[in-house]
Amino acid sequence: MDRAHDHLLDPSWTFLNHGSFGSTPRALLALQSRWREEMEAQPVAFLARRLPGLLQAERAAIAPFLGADPAGLAFVRNATTGVAAVLHSLHLRPGDELLTTDHRYQAVANALADVAAARGARVVEAAVPFPIQDPGQVLQAVSEAIGPRTRLVVVDWITSPTALVLPVAAICRLCRDRGVPILVDGAHSPGHVSVDLAALGADFYTGNLHKWLCAPKGTAVLWAAEGWRDRLHHPVPSHGWRQGMQAELDWTGTDDPTGWLCSAAAVQHHRDLGGATFRAANHALALAGRDRLSGRLDLQPPAPDEMLGCMAALPLPASPADLPRLVEALHHQRIEVPLLAWGGRAWVRISAFGTYNQLEQYDRLGEALAHAL
Ligand SMILES: Cc1ncc(COP(=O)(O)O)c(C=O)c1O
Repeated sequence: MDRAHDHLLDPSWTFLNHGSFGSTPRALLALQSRWREEMEAQPVAFLARRLPGLLQAERAAIAPFLGADPAGLAFVRNATTGVAAVLHSLHLRPGDELLTTDHRYQAVANALADVAAARGARVVEAAVPFPIQDPGQVLQAVSEAIGPRTRLVVVDWITSPTALVLPVAAICRLCRDRGVPILVDGAHSPGHVSVDLAALGADFYTGNLHKWLCAPKGTAVLWAAEGWRDRLHHPVPSHGWRQGMQAELDWTGTDDPTGWLCSAAAVQHHRDLGGATFRAANHALALAGRDRLSGRLDLQPPAPDEMLGCMAALPLPASPADLPRLVEALHHQRIEVPLLAWGGRAWVRISAFGTYNQLEQYDRLGEALAHAL
């Protein structure tokens, strides 16, 4: 499916990093512009009077796609803010533990470290093996790391540096059995995998709509299970302070809400591309791209196919110290793909987004890397 023209992407670049920041399609940007024009025609009427109802309607429209009850759903700017709101709402005591895995996103690790340092708590990172053979290894690592002082488990649905789809439903069941609340960091999950929050059984979930659903940037959700909703607070108190999670999160000071108002259209756009069929095609393209790359560079794929979504990470025969040189070589050829250090090794992480990625692009990356290595 070559629909690259749907996007404003510069065709001189081989763009293989939808996972970090994808390109929002022209149609959604046009919708956002229309909302902006309406806002600027009468800003007070729009922001003070019309917006609450619009957000309510937008939440109701996207809730079924996420399997969520709208009452537990709120918009946030990004997953980073969603995580911060949950951490900010915990009542931690000295000696308490926050548990995550060593595949977590660095900004989330920083947020955990920040709240732990302020309250005398401790961050524990369960070591999840990588290369990995099966999802049971993740479950085992998390299970062994839960202790009597664990106050929250934070687990990625799809890991950033290693591109693994973690068995989050099983981890939620484990946490329920052990009486520990869990926040699923689903930054990558909407539009990447099927999301059904009712079935997932998490206490909290945050997900970006601006990644795989291509909503305008600054568009994400935070969801909380029923018992948490009145106890969830945004780190920036504003007019909705202590009036419930939606009142707190809907308004955190004057801002541009027009991205949020494109959420339902982003879901519809994803459905128009094929929904589950589009996700499956992206998965197949990621696997094929991985295979081309690993064939060209003689690399061993570090994860089974069923633990991957629309991204894949591969170990490079290089050290982390080589990364700046390799990145420069790729940029010289106008190839955008993340090269990163994890676990003392160098990795490349490819993304596959079917409207603008094709298999030849991974060949091009393979050639460029083979040359630079
Ligand atoms: C697992 C994970 N969590 C959180 C984030 C942060 O997302 P954002 O920058 O939209 O806040 C990312 C971003 O890639 C991520 O991969």
